[in-house]
Amino acid sequence: CASVYRDKHERLLKVLVIGDIGVGKTSIITRYVHQVFSQHYRATIGVDFALKVLNWDHKTVVRLQLWDIAGQERYGNMTRVYYKEAVGALVVFDMTRLSTFQAVLKWKGDLDSKVALGNGRTVPAVLLANKCDQRDHGLCPKLPKLESFSREYGFIGCMEVNPSSFSVSFQDDTNIDAAITCLVKSIMSLE
Ligand code: GTP
Ligand code: MG
Repeated sequence: CASVYRDKHERLLKVLVIGDIGVGKTSIITRYVHQVFSQHYRATIGVDFALKVLNWDHKTVVRLQLWDIAGQERYGNMTRVYYKEAVGALVVFDMTRLSTFQAVLKWKGDLDSKVALGNGRTVPAVLLANKCDQRDHGLCPKLPKLESFSREYGFIGCMEVNPSSFSVSFQDDTNIDAAITCLVKSIMSLE
């Protein structure tokens, strides 16, 4: 109710979604925020934004500001501007394209060289292996074990996600909620 809401403490968290062209960053965000998915590809130009409000706990509302950075920005100089004051990131690759996996460390390196937390530490980042519905056509046999890979390179976790999935049982089987909750938990614990 309104009085309870008024007593709640609000936190605005800026979270970046980065990774190569066409890996599915916009699809992940759109599915998470609007519960829709489109097979039609429309490249993001520059940056896009989405907001999701989470009732985090009985005293905290989290306003999650998702920055959807165009894959083509990897070759530009704008990422420094976009990354400013971010407190977390999702680094996405496409399980069917090896080049997008190889680019993951370039994105992570770009991130860590341009933004840091107040105490100088890197911002928490989760690695997302997207299009896991296409796993059978993909490069899985060629991928290293993602758990150990992600730990070795400083990610707080990794998950296979699939924004195209719509379960008939109303259960969320995209894994996107789980991934974002993991990231937000980590950000909130750094208080
Ligand atoms: P840029 O904006 O160019 O950086 O691309 P992006 O990373 O935002 O990719 P986008 O979300 O636009 O998705 C690219 C294409 O992949 C689209 O045609 C999507 O429909 C498709 N796609 C995204 N996620 C999935 C998935 O989990 N499974 C399948 N099969 N297709 C997906
Ligand atoms: Mg996009």
